[in-house]
Amino acid sequence: MKIETIATAPIEGQMPGTSGLRKKTRVFMEPHYLENFIQATFDAIGGGAGKTFVVGGDGRYFNKAAIQTILKMAAGNGASQVIVGQDGILSTPAASHLIRLNKTDGGFILSASHNPGGIDEDFGVKFNAENGGPAPEGLTAKMFDATKTIEQFKTVDAADVDLSTVGNVQIGDMHVRVVDPVESYQALMEALFDFDAIRGLFAGGFTMRFDAMHAVTGPYATAILEGALGAPAGTVVNGVPLEDFGKGHPDPNPIWAKPLMDLMMSDAAPDMGAASDGDGDRNMIVGRGAYVTPSDSLAVLAANAHLAPAYRDGLAGIARSMPTSAASDRVAAKLGIGCYETPTGWKFFGNLLDAGKVTICGEESAGTGSDHVREKDGLWAVLLWLNILAVRKQSVSDIVQEHWQTFGRDYYSRYDYEAVATDQANQLMSELRARLDGLAGQAFGDVTVATADEFSYLDPVDGSISKNQGVRIAFAGGGRAVFRLSGTGTQGATLRLYLEQYSGVDGALDLDTQAALADVRGAAQEICNMAALIGRTEPDVIT
Ligand code: G1P
Ligand code: ZN
Repeated sequence: MKIETIATAPIEGQMPGTSGLRKKTRVFMEPHYLENFIQATFDAIGGGAGKTFVVGGDGRYFNKAAIQTILKMAAGNGASQVIVGQDGILSTPAASHLIRLNKTDGGFILSASHNPGGIDEDFGVKFNAENGGPAPEGLTAKMFDATKTIEQFKTVDAADVDLSTVGNVQIGDMHVRVVDPVESYQALMEALFDFDAIRGLFAGGFTMRFDAMHAVTGPYATAILEGALGAPAGTVVNGVPLEDFGKGHPDPNPIWAKPLMDLMMSDAAPDMGAASDGDGDRNMIVGRGAYVTPSDSLAVLAANAHLAPAYRDGLAGIARSMPTSAASDRVAAKLGIGCYETPTGWKFFGNLLDAGKVTICGEESAGTGSDHVREKDGLWAVLLWLNILAVRKQSVSDIVQEHWQTFGRDYYSRYDYEAVATDQANQLMSELRARLDGLAGQAFGDVTVATADEFSYLDPVDGSISKNQGVRIAFAGGGRAVFRLSGTGTQGATLRLYLEQYSGVDGALDLDTQAALADVRGAAQEICNMAALIGRTEPDVIT
């Protein structure tokens, strides 16, 4: 097989963001755009010769074509084996598991997560390292550097590989193993959870709707929930992955999973509702009439994890991203275990998990996971909830209410201001930063600032420092506002404002969330001078 060395030139803007490189699909389809980034990745990891990789994606438009390109480039760079999901399908957690299970040198995950898919929507590529987790910042910096100096990429002149059949094929000397995307992942879930107990739950008439949002989790949820666990057919809806996710926005939150939310708030609600995102790493949990915020879900899962076989001996510690509410910190304190606050993005949990410092991690953006892989895992969270429900024999809502009675409630909401002009968003953040030092002690409406700073993270494992990870303002009385700019968008800037108010253990537990946050919201918007600087205070999306 002839290895071809193709001349190329650097393309601007190939810096990986919170979760890999994300751009409009048409940008990825431009000549050499994908190739440059893939070659830069090989260069950043010291070449591909003799190495093994996992490749798969969430099935969105351009997934299959991109996989063929990557396979040929892997062969061109001398890789010895690539494991690919059948039809190019692998959920993000399943890809992470395959990297670990097969001890490969890493993997390429093709997804723009919860962003819509299609030729006019979004595409993305992420490299995960040999621990199964997203490339850490040191590596993404090397990748970005390599994109700035690239002069050539390597590929082979070969026909496309048939990915529709499980089995082995060759590209020159490189083995391509096409695997069932679900099998290994399902085996892992069976090892973690008490499937007999969950089967008993469904056999006893427990009802559920899982909305796969036409994204990658469909085959996984169908095989596990309806297959292995005996949930009735029809439990999984929108279960066939589509290239454009049925023109939907595959983000499992009350806004984008509205049909599920409507059902769960109606008289026809099943016992539990759940949804997952484009690439299967996010989750949403809803009880009958009761939405569970991701921050609360993390806390409840951590407090009850010992009810599942894998976590019977307890947790080493809990980590959450900085904007996630403090609910899980209260659980860690009660359990007397480690508690870590990291920057936004799953890559920051990798070192803590590898070092055995934490067992469970989560983000307010509907991500929860454990040390079973190095990604967040939507279906894992759903199965842990089911395992807990099967043991406790209570409703989702009763479990959450009891949790609040024990720990107090962290009222929580995130406001997203999308497509803000980049310079306006940057100006808002820089003016806010400039005010931080003088804020403590100042009153805004009925609340007074206790502390204000910009979050900087010192990784306790490798000593690396990540600066400028968001502005946080704590108020006297348990309120907090966090401001940061999204690192996953593909157009303009998205300003995220995270609001939180702790009730105290004896405080009111049944307030309307937005009402409970009114003071903190007013203060936050005033402090950052939002109306003047971006011309609005009404967000596009509230979750
Ligand atoms: C968003 C979420 C973050 C998550 C990431 C990838 O990043 O906020 O928690 O890890 O997507 O799923 P952001 O757009 O805020 O940078
Ligand atoms: Zn995702």
